[in-house]
Amino acid sequence: MLAQNIVVAASVLAADFLKLGEEVAAVTAAGADWLHVDVMDNHYVPNLSFGLPVCSALARASTLPLDVHLMTERVETLIEPFAAIGAARITFHPDTTAHADRMIQAIRVTGMEVGVALNPAMPLAWIEELIAQVDLVLLMTVNPGFGGQQFIPSVLTKIAALRAQIDTTDRPVRLQVDGGINAESAQQCRQAGADTLVAGNAIFSSSDYAATIRALRSS
Ligand code: DX5
Ligand code: ZN
Repeated sequence: MLAQNIVVAASVLAADFLKLGEEVAAVTAAGADWLHVDVMDNHYVPNLSFGLPVCSALARASTLPLDVHLMTERVETLIEPFAAIGAARITFHPDTTAHADRMIQAIRVTGMEVGVALNPAMPLAWIEELIAQVDLVLLMTVNPGFGGQQFIPSVLTKIAALRAQIDTTDRPVRLQVDGGINAESAQQCRQAGADTLVAGNAIFSSSDYAATIRALRSS
């Protein structure tokens, strides 16, 4: 089993957009490991969030790796632009394309890391052939599209099953969870085998970002 340090990724979607720069500085000082950006296109998910101009500004303002979560169709058109702004990783949803393998290769060739994301209703079969090629698998613990939703506990079984699959590979694939993550659900996810925690409202709606991040990290 590959022991991996716990990563806490702060999801900017829950930040105060009127003072994004300050929020990024605050969450960085508070000890977040990654800045998670949720790009939504109002096609794949029923919401619009922000796109390249905002992500580019965030990348310039931040010393944290930009963890790009694309909830969009036509991912192939976004790979080069996100590489150009210095994103660390693109995670996409394989059900947006007939050619997930090609997409992984296209992301990889830019030097960025690659993640694949599964919605709560999607079985692990979607990514079994891809695990050997990716750096991260994201198991959505809410239906994608909105922050501030309730954690879906039935995903815990899938987390445990994916943990077992990852542990049979000899590559350090991260197991990320995203949606409704707070100290309590983080602990359940950690016990099931997750090592990378995305948190939006839990961090940005708290009065002490550092204490919240510490609580998540030690969950
Ligand atoms: C949901 C997004 C999440 C969202 C999480 O579609 O992928 O990253 O920001 O927000 P919280 O932590 O508030 O559930
Ligand atoms: Zn996300």
